Amino acid sequence: MKFFIDTAKVDDIKKANDMGVICGVTTNPSLIAKEGRVFEEVIAEIASIVDGPISGEVKATTTDAEGMIAEGRAIAAIHPNMVVKIPMTAEGLKACKVLSSEGIKTNVTLIFTANQALLAARAGATYVSPFLGRLDDISTPGIDLIRTISEIFAVAGIETEIIAASVRHPIHVIDCALAGADIATVPYSVIEQMIKHPLTDQGIEKFQADYKAVFGE
Ligand code: E4P
Repeated sequence: MKFFIDTAKVDDIKKANDMGVICGVTTNPSLIAKEGRVFEEVIAEIASIVDGPISGEVKATTTDAEGMIAEGRAIAAIHPNMVVKIPMTAEGLKACKVLSSEGIKTNVTLIFTANQALLAARAGATYVSPFLGRLDDISTPGIDLIRTISEIFAVAGIETEIIAASVRHPIHVIDCALAGADIATVPYSVIEQMIKHPLTDQGIEKFQADYKAVFGE
C-alpha cells in the first residue's frame, strides 16, 4: 500500500515528501478553505513539491456535469500530475466519463458503498475514495467497505485504484493495508503517530547515555 498525504498545508507536504514516505497528495474544498489561499496557487505549489498524483477537487458549488467538466479541464491544465476529484453523483459520473475519455485522471470521492465504487470504476475513474472514518463516525465499520471494494475489483479485474480516505489514526492505516487498499491518504498528524513509539525514544536515550558514559560528549 502506498501513501498520499491528505492536506493542502504546504509545510506538512514538504515534511512528508522529504521523508520519502508519500507519493501523492489529496485535497478537498474544506482543506483548501482551511488554508485560505487561492486554489490554483496552492495546487501549483503542491505540484512543485511532490512528483506524483495531486488530487484537486471541483468547487463544492459546481454540481452539474458541464460545470465539473469545464472546471476539471482547468484543474488538469495546472500541472501534468493533476487528478480531478469529482463527487459521487449522477452528474459527477457523467463528468468522470467525459474527463476520463480525454485522458484526464479522475478521483471519484465521497464513496460510501461498494456500488458507488463499482459505478465510478465503470465511468472510467482512475481512483475511488471510500471514506473510512466518516462511516465509523456513524457506527458503520468503514474498513468493511474497503475490503468489499477491494474484493470486487480483484474479482472483476478492475484497474481503478482504491484510495482509503478519511483515515483518522494508525490502526486505520494497518487495517487498510490488510483490506487491500492500493493507497491510504493520511493527514500529517497520522504520519507523525505512525513514526513514534516510546520504546524507540527510550532506546535512543539509552544508546546516547551508554555511549556518553564511556566516550563523553
Ligand atoms: C479524502 O480525499 C478526503 O479529503 C479526506 O480523507 C476526508 O477526511 P475527513 O473525513 O477526516 O474529513
